[in-house]
Amino acid sequence: MHYQSLVTALSLGSAALALHGQFPINIAEEIGARPLDITNSNPGHLNSISSNSEQWRFDECPPENATGNLIFDTVHSLLQHWPNTRYRNGHNIVPGVIPIGTLLYHGTNGSRIIPSGPEWTAMNPEHSIYFSRGNGSGWHLTLAATRPLKVLYFDGSSAAKLSEGTMDVQDIIAWGEPRPERSFDEGDRINALCAWGKEFGIDGFVSEVMLCDFTAGVEVVSFVHIALPRDDRSFPLSTSVDPNTCQSSTCGLWHNRYPGDSRIVLDLTGLISLYDTALAPSLISARAGFGRLDHRVFGISSDDISRVMRKLIKVVTRPHPVGSGIDWKTLLHVIVDRYADRLELTRYLLNVTLSDPQELLERAKLVQFQLRVMLTPYLLHSTAIPNTGTLGIYLSQWASPIFSLCVTTHTSQITNLKPLMTSSELLLLKAVEDTTREICRITIKMWAVGVMSGFDTLFPIELNGELDVTQIMNDWRQDIGKLMSWLDWSVWIKCRPACGPEEMCYLSTWPINAPRPERPLLSPRNSQNLTNFPETQYVADRVTQPKYPTMPAEDWGLPQPRCIRRLQPYGF
Ligand SMILES: *[C@@H]1O[C@H](CO)[C@@H](O)[C@H](O)[C@H]1NC(C)=O
Ligand SMILES: *[C@@H]1O[C@H](CO)[C@@H](O)[C@H](O)[C@H]1NC(C)=O
Ligand SMILES: *[C@@H]1O[C@H](CO)[C@@H](O)[C@H](O)[C@H]1NC(C)=O
Ligand SMILES: *[C@@H]1O[C@H](CO)[C@@H](O)[C@H](O)[C@H]1NC(C)=O
Ligand SMILES: *[C@@H]1O[C@H](CO)[C@@H](O)[C@H](O)[C@H]1NC(C)=O
Repeated sequence: MHYQSLVTALSLGSAALALHGQFPINIAEEIGARPLDITNSNPGHLNSISSNSEQWRFDECPPENATGNLIFDTVHSLLQHWPNTRYRNGHNIVPGVIPIGTLLYHGTNGSRIIPSGPEWTAMNPEHSIYFSRGNGSGWHLTLAATRPLKVLYFDGSSAAKLSEGTMDVQDIIAWGEPRPERSFDEGDRINALCAWGKEFGIDGFVSEVMLCDFTAGVEVVSFVHIALPRDDRSFPLSTSVDPNTCQSSTCGLWHNRYPGDSRIVLDLTGLISLYDTALAPSLISARAGFGRLDHRVFGISSDDISRVMRKLIKVVTRPHPVGSGIDWKTLLHVIVDRYADRLELTRYLLNVTLSDPQELLERAKLVQFQLRVMLTPYLLHSTAIPNTGTLGIYLSQWASPIFSLCVTTHTSQITNLKPLMTSSELLLLKAVEDTTREICRITIKMWAVGVMSGFDTLFPIELNGELDVTQIMNDWRQDIGKLMSWLDWSVWIKCRPACGPEEMCYLSTWPINAPRPERPLLSPRNSQNLTNFPETQYVADRVTQPKYPTMPAEDWGLPQPRCIRRLQPYGF
């Protein structure tokens, strides 16, 4: 039976089957059935792998240019500070609303005047106060949304005025293409974004909230003259540059992890991802050979820009509500929850060098136990372990029912909703499938190796021949390392050991720890001369701030978490 129709058939009948307690076994029989391959000259022989085992191959890695893992991780990271500090160059545009009653804050430039045009607001006063110009005092405006505000959210560090990619996506909307040489042209950018969005009733654009009209959909809660520390430097370098304030978004720490800042409610049925290879195929070659930190949207073809803009306009003009009703945000998080800690613990258990054979064997069994715990819901009772000590071709046969159950459990039911899904949801579904497939492929392969090595008490086998536990451990270590770096979930990026109560865990953040752009900060494929960029002066000025801990310059290229003090004197 073709796999797709099998899933449909199974999901239609699943309730009844589940009642009989036979669901998994039936799946096993169905999926595990191996019709002879009539095109094969050796029917019945081991070489005749069925179309089913063909589909559940353990040696099939995701293609180098696949992006399902990146779509999965960036979508799981939306509205969270930590992952978007780590990977600054955003790839997603998501429509959303800021609910009625939400407060927005704005520090004015020294007078009690409500901006007459587009201006920046913040979700937290600790951030906006930084922009209250003054020396010893400043004006601070608090607004409340009087209706749901329609916004577009950009991920990444989309408020960081850098030429290396943080602004690329916004630039496409504002100016029709990424314009890295205009990274500091923020006034024109916000005006252009708001002018574009006016036709579609868009109230603002979010990283900080670029609010298009201070008289539409918001009302003043207060506009007060507040006391600020005296400063011996000029604006914007107020004394509030310390790790407790929201400059450099450290108050984003409050929204560091899932679920992120819940004051912005995103609609994933309208997700636009520049990692969507059907939407922006020109970026596949632009990304080739670059690490994820250097992925950006610069280099996108004009055809792809047109496609992105057509999709964006479709998204912002469509009637509501649309889509399948699936809670994608939660679904992605369930998968992260289910595997993140266990994979991390498994990696930890493997990260040893033990010379004592007994200790080594004990450790291998601990790893096997973790793998089995992770896979328990998929370990079919009917599994028939071949009684030979080799893996090879057998693996794809005896373990493929486990593989397919593991991969399809989270999605087989919702696959039925495909006709209702938007194209963004189909992209999300594919990202979930690609991601779970790779997790299952590697963990089941590891588990099966352990079974064949006699490590698993639940699946005992008779060993024949010598066991090279060191080799198995080495292979396992490599497997889990590759899987975790492919998934690249930011939940694994943390300070080890954890920070003390007077510290916080910190990643290099613009502008404080951004190096001067003369450094190899641009990807080599961009040959523009950036030494004259305003950020050169700006950033240079910033890093002389003595109060903020300076990260080693090379850290910018791949930020590593470090504990910094959150009390004076600041530093590591
Ligand atoms: C992606 O990689 C696969 C396999 O490596 C290759 O066949 C395919 O042409 C690539 N796609 C693009 C658009 O480069
Ligand atoms: C504050 O901004 C307003 C409007 O942009 C401008 O007219 C005024 O000169 C600014 N004041 C200062 C002190 O920069
Ligand atoms: C801020 O005010 C203090 C005290 O009046 C003064 O010494 C200092 O020069 C001022 N700084 C700036 C940048 O104006
Ligand atoms: C492995 O252990 C070493 C030594 O304890 C540690 O420095 C390293 O970070 C660990 N690697 C991983 C991937 O946890
Ligand atoms: C970049 O600009 C600087 C200053 O204008 C100039 O000295 C330098 O030669 C330029 N470099 C390149 C590669 O064009």
